[in-house]
Amino acid sequence: MKKVLALTLTLVMILSVVGSAMAAGKVGVSMPTKSLQRWNEDGDYLKAQFEAAGYEVELQYAGDNDVPTQVAQLETMLLNGCNVLVITAIDATSLGTVLATAKEAGVKVVCHDRIILDTDAVDYYATFDNFQVGEIQGQYVVDTLGLADGKGPFNIEFIAGDPGDNNATYFFNGAMSKVQQYLDNGQLVCVSGQTTFDKVATPKWTTATAQARMDDIIAANYAGGTPLDVVLCSNDSTAQGATNALVAAGFEVGKNFPIITGQDCDIASVKNIIKGLQSMSIFKDTRILAARTVTIVNSVLAGEPVETNSTVNNHVFDVPTFYCLPLFADVNNYEELLIGSGYYTAESLAD
Ligand code: GAL
Repeated sequence: MKKVLALTLTLVMILSVVGSAMAAGKVGVSMPTKSLQRWNEDGDYLKAQFEAAGYEVELQYAGDNDVPTQVAQLETMLLNGCNVLVITAIDATSLGTVLATAKEAGVKVVCHDRIILDTDAVDYYATFDNFQVGEIQGQYVVDTLGLADGKGPFNIEFIAGDPGDNNATYFFNGAMSKVQQYLDNGQLVCVSGQTTFDKVATPKWTTATAQARMDDIIAANYAGGTPLDVVLCSNDSTAQGATNALVAAGFEVGKNFPIITGQDCDIASVKNIIKGLQSMSIFKDTRILAARTVTIVNSVLAGEPVETNSTVNNHVFDVPTFYCLPLFADVNNYEELLIGSGYYTAESLAD
């Protein structure tokens, strides 16, 4: 079956090369879901930038984070003659078989934002420094509470990301690298006791799941007026769940609303930051990441050296990686960072 698919692919690729001699190549872009703002942006910028560079682009979203759909879409991209695949994997370990087929057919694979594990059939990885994202979130909590000056105790809860997304553990571990010592010495107290990744993870990063878990935590631990000082959330979709639960439970900005961290600068979260319903986010400029992925693909197809600045081990080999820089965003710098850079218009952030 694999051989037949590989043979068909070779034929299809020969025909498509003959048929589209003018195109720089055909790129299959595989995104996880349209339900999060983040991936709509990555998909749009990748498509626009690849097309501007002369590529034909097949862009697909895998339903709402549906792994079999992502696999089927990648198979179709191969059959359609894509000679490069750019993939943001839903599950880091579920693409090995289809990528083995891609490799046999000489198709290059770039992991976009999320590493794909347990395979030798990926070529490059373009992302932001994910551990650093968590460090920035954790350091924000340390600085805002004055933990280094011995202040406390403060109560903290944690909401992390999807266990299938390898980035999620990097965010969590990065944040923990900053706050763990204060949990250990009692300046931070997690009243629910849920401090390990498996306990605080949020399948598919969904707002509703994070909100439901926060509802339960509030009901069980904070209903009687026990202060909640921090909800350390790994990204904006989970932060929005925390915010919704807190507002529903009667927490008020300027009175007892906790510090809430996030990531991605989703429009909904930036609006929350402006209102004090979220404290900070991380700006990952998806225009820059898309441009980096396009640069990598250009170099690979031209047979030129590929510029990288790190490696990430995917359990099989050290994947040559380019890390882009994640930036801190809050109410004081969002205008310059997000509007000044042309990422958002002022109107899009107005209520
Ligand atoms: C991660 C990504 C984050 C966030 C999250 C949820 O892999 O790096 O920026 O968007 O997925 O989609």
